[in-house]
Amino acid sequence: MSDHILVEQPSDQGGAVQVIRFNRPDKKNAITQDMYATMVEALQSGDADNNVRVHVFLGTAECFTSGNDLQDFLSYAITGRMSEGHVGQFLKQLAMAKKPMIAGVDGLAIGIGTTMQLHCDLTFASPRSQFRTPFVDLGLVPEAGSSLLGPAIMGHQRAFALLAAGTGFSAKEACEAGLVYKVVSVEDLEQQTMAAAADIAAKPPQAIQIARDLLRSGERDAVLQRIEKETALFSERLTSPEARAAFEAFMARKK
Ligand code: COA
Repeated sequence: MSDHILVEQPSDQGGAVQVIRFNRPDKKNAITQDMYATMVEALQSGDADNNVRVHVFLGTAECFTSGNDLQDFLSYAITGRMSEGHVGQFLKQLAMAKKPMIAGVDGLAIGIGTTMQLHCDLTFASPRSQFRTPFVDLGLVPEAGSSLLGPAIMGHQRAFALLAAGTGFSAKEACEAGLVYKVVSVEDLEQQTMAAAADIAAKPPQAIQIARDLLRSGERDAVLQRIEKETALFSERLTSPEARAAFEAFMARKK
């Protein structure tokens, strides 16, 4: 379990809301293998716990997450081995989650920080949030099923701009594109996110799960297949000279 992910079920919600919070602010909440493993465990145990009705993702001030830890990517580029397949498990778990997922984004949402919103059911974002996926600039390709969900949700051109060209979206642009449900002030962000989670948690749990499944119907298998295809290409790209050069440049930029 990683201390860099805080998992709690606040008692004022009677334990019905499970909060999964990125908590590695000194590294802009970059996600390590251990952090993925902790999130997988939280999503699976929350889905299996009848008391939990909603998952909520939060970050820290001005930073949701800067995406995958680039040091981990560099190690993979050098050794060709990822310590364990926790990233892949996390991506699949996002696609297979049984209970609604709500996110409250303040500040940076990079890489998986952006693409995971495609799996969330409601995303609230502060006006200073930025959504960015520099996959191609890193010599990589889109992940998390985003190559399928992105165009379906926002249309090809916006998906291309965000996911292939690496164009950053402001909170307003992300909202217009359908990646974000509502833009709310920094001060209100967590309160509104938790209030929305409490509303959903108060609904008949089976009906909300069935409704959610219907809204995503037919999609899950296709998304899982796409995640597998993307992961195969992504892993290949991780060991490419283009990717290795980009990771080394990031690590060396302050030296
Ligand atoms: N992986 C590993 N470390 C990261 C990181 C990441 N994804 N993002 C930030 N960090 C670390 C930095 O190395 C730095 O560590 P240090 O203080 O030990 O040098 C610390 O977090 C603060 O980051 P810094 O770059 O100094 O802050 P900034 O405000 O100037 O820039 C970002 C923030 C997020 C814009 C910038 O760090 C960045 O571009 N990160 C990479 C994002 C990325 O490409 N993610 C992968 C997507 S697939």
